[in-house]
Amino acid sequence: MNHVFNSTALNMSYVSDNVAGASPEIIDALAQCNTGQVNPYGNDDGTARIEKKLSDIFERPVSVFLVNSGSAANALGLSVLTPPWGHVLCHPDSHIYNDECAAPEVFNPGSKLITVAGESTKISPARLREKLTHKLGDVHSTQPATLSITQATETGSVYNLDELQVLKDICRSSNLKMQMDGARFANALVSLNCTPAEMSWKSGIDILSFGATKNGALSAEAVILFDQGMATEMGYRRKRSGHLTSKMRFLSAQIDAYLSDDLWLKNAAQANNMAKRLEQGLAGIHGIELLGETQTNIIFCKMSAKTIDHLYGQGFTFYANRWGKDIVRLVTSFATTEQDVDALIRAAKNSSA
Ligand SMILES: Cc1ncc(COP(=O)(O)O)c(C=O)c1O
Repeated sequence: MNHVFNSTALNMSYVSDNVAGASPEIIDALAQCNTGQVNPYGNDDGTARIEKKLSDIFERPVSVFLVNSGSAANALGLSVLTPPWGHVLCHPDSHIYNDECAAPEVFNPGSKLITVAGESTKISPARLREKLTHKLGDVHSTQPATLSITQATETGSVYNLDELQVLKDICRSSNLKMQMDGARFANALVSLNCTPAEMSWKSGIDILSFGATKNGALSAEAVILFDQGMATEMGYRRKRSGHLTSKMRFLSAQIDAYLSDDLWLKNAAQANNMAKRLEQGLAGIHGIELLGETQTNIIFCKMSAKTIDHLYGQGFTFYANRWGKDIVRLVTSFATTEQDVDALIRAAKNSSA
């Protein structure tokens, strides 16, 4: 049985990677785990199994807490790392700052988010150092406690391992914890071609929001604690936030299938490769200007209002004019095919001809 969402029709939406359905392997795993009675609240065998699998993948024992959304994963992780009088340093374009409706402050009342800008949606180390000297030790001000970085970033760029190391050194010397929003962790990993350990705890990350929903799961994200000493607190925090799902087997089955046979890496490679193909196709079209190099599955480019309207008229959907006049964002996913991408390139060519 083929479960691929819209499998025969062209995928014409480039609005987000969330517009895709779930991977057939994950839907199958859900159907398979539907029989029989299973211990609730994370006491299922599947949850134990994925903790073991993730410990192997990350090359050290980890504690894993499954939740339904990336926002919950981020807010919970940050709440464990940050005291109520502390602040989280994050990029002004970060999802936690812009798109989570103050969830980090709700989950950890008193704490604040403070922004540190930087090119390509990446925190600038120089600006971070500046922020860390501001009112340090002043009892009247919240104190820097945690650095949150997004990998891949909200615009699809990626911190390389050297950049992560610089941030780690700053954080270690200033006693800051590090949290990673990895809603697109797999896309970044495939792009860097490094190990999950190198891109996380070896780069100083204490807690990782390990995303799966954007990359083939139905609705499942794993909060991964590299310091298992924080697990007890996280357990209570997850429960009181309403994110301890009773039928946890349906979340663990998703992550189990996601990690099996490298599905997570294959899906991310497909999304990234399709973005590359799209980027290369658009590069040759008169009147289209690519904005920066595509490192994962998000492309930013500039095109005329005429081309945008033409593409909309053909049935393609994507964000335009949101990040500036004539700026278009195109996001591919694990479900995007070569056929999909070629259709978009053809339509863009026709409009500019
Ligand atoms: C960078 C980033 N972090 C986290 C999320 C997770 O958000 P949600 O709470 O919708 O699962 C998203 C989704 O758009 C995202 O782009």
